[in-house]
Amino acid sequence: MPEYDPLIAAAKQARENAHAKFSNFKVGAGLRSSSGKIYGGCNVENATYGLTVCAERVAIFKAISEGERKFDAIAVVTDASTLTPPCGACRQLIWEFCGDIPVVLANLAGKVEVIRMSQLFPKPFDSSNL
Ligand code: THU
Repeated sequence: MPEYDPLIAAAKQARENAHAKFSNFKVGAGLRSSSGKIYGGCNVENATYGLTVCAERVAIFKAISEGERKFDAIAVVTDASTLTPPCGACRQLIWEFCGDIPVVLANLAGKVEVIRMSQLFPKPFDSSNL
């Protein structure tokens, strides 16, 4: 899936900046807007643990704050042999901001899997339910 290589590369690069001193579990995300621009994100932990923000949400908030509103893919990279899917909170926000996009899961060993949001997050609650 060479079309996702730049997205995975951006996620890997962002992962290098992960602030994961409590879990030591570094995560990087790459979010591609429909304009083609890629936004990186890493997990940012803190001493209260609960205020930690995942890499995916950091990438989303960076992009939204730059005025982006349409996205076509997101990548998540860790060093785990079992690929790391987005947590429940991130699934909610990826769904709300990006819809049914492909989620590219990858690790440093080169393993890659692509899964769509509608498979990862069936029966979502969103603005259509309000
Ligand atoms: N984490 C992410 O950044 N994204 C995920 O998809 C899963 C979990 C982070 C949160 C925390 O800093 C660390 O990984 C361990 O849970």
